[in-house]
Amino acid sequence: MTDALIPKSDFVGLEGVAHFATGGEGPMLKSHLDAFEQFCLDKGRGELARGIQHAVLDAARAQCATLIQAPAEDITFLSSASEGINLLRYALDWRAGDNVVVADVEFPSDVLPWTSLAKSGIEIRVVKHRNWVIDEQDVLAQVDARTRVVAISQVSMFTGQHIDVPTLSAGVREAGALLLLDVTHAAGVVPVRAQYADVLVSSCYKWMLGTHGTALFYLNRDRLADLAPPFLGWASITSGGGWQSPLEYTLPDTADRFLPANPSYISLYMLNNALQRLSALGENTVAAHSRALSGDIRAALVSHGVEMMTPEAEQMRAGNVSFVIDNIKHFRDAMAEHNVLVWGAYGQVGRVRISAHVHNNSDDVERLLAAMRGYFESYPARAR
Ligand SMILES: Cc1ncc(COP(=O)(O)O)c(C=O)c1O
Repeated sequence: MTDALIPKSDFVGLEGVAHFATGGEGPMLKSHLDAFEQFCLDKGRGELARGIQHAVLDAARAQCATLIQAPAEDITFLSSASEGINLLRYALDWRAGDNVVVADVEFPSDVLPWTSLAKSGIEIRVVKHRNWVIDEQDVLAQVDARTRVVAISQVSMFTGQHIDVPTLSAGVREAGALLLLDVTHAAGVVPVRAQYADVLVSSCYKWMLGTHGTALFYLNRDRLADLAPPFLGWASITSGGGWQSPLEYTLPDTADRFLPANPSYISLYMLNNALQRLSALGENTVAAHSRALSGDIRAALVSHGVEMMTPEAEQMRAGNVSFVIDNIKHFRDAMAEHNVLVWGAYGQVGRVRISAHVHNNSDDVERLLAAMRGYFESYPARAR
């Protein structure tokens, strides 16, 4: 019997629902309604509001610094993970003959930003999975002296694989390249260590239990001290930019130099609230909980004979379990009839992703397994 780490009753709309869709959209804490109300109250306080909003930003930043074990000043908040990846693409000075290494089973935003470089003679090298697994050595085999960036997710949104970050990081650094780590499916569910990355991005609306409009952006200043911000605005600067000398300015020596305008304070109020809740649980407790539940789900899927994407070894997965199925919508809708929420479509191959997080318990897993038994009995051809 496994209890939820955060009771379902603390979330909006989870009564009677087995919510396994965090890999797409995490559920909302009821306490976010208080955070939202506080945001509204603070916003009405005129100029005083800005100081209060900054204090919330700094509190969320401190929470993230603890979460990824990085100096707080190396973290800022952009509007999305995709924005952070594009930022690196536009901040580096590229030369013809450089290359970027990505994986074929990546999230599009980890691949697409680099494609516009091809016309300038920069090669985009795509590492292919083997049986849905990306081998770190296959990635490193593509890295050479002209590799500028390796862009990869710590945990794949597609296959659920958790890569060996220290091994990859050591190889990338030895070659003198930068590691851009997308931790959207890792932060909030398994430990993330900024020390291995040069740039780290994460959406906050999934496993971190926040909402849209704010994303974590970390920059390793030991390796990227001089990185020029591609976008400037009133919030990027520490001095200047006024009517007396409108063309002069100084940039802060922190990651906030990449933040040209107000961040989404409303999302930061919620993120701060969510991370207080998550950090009180402890990262190892959360990781063990999600891996145990997702391991049970994986084992049940294997017994139905489906083609698994997610590796079995515990250290090679996190909260996501993915498998191949011909008709994703049919499966997803059949689960929804039992109030079981899973996430479906993505890419050319039909895959379903089932994500276990802090709100899930063994009753949820039982409900899912019963619904799946019924499904595969009725449609045996869907399992291979
Ligand atoms: C790995 C990964 N990165 C980023 C995102 C989306 O991030 P954003 O909307 O913040 O750009 C997703 C969404 O599914 C994702 O799976």
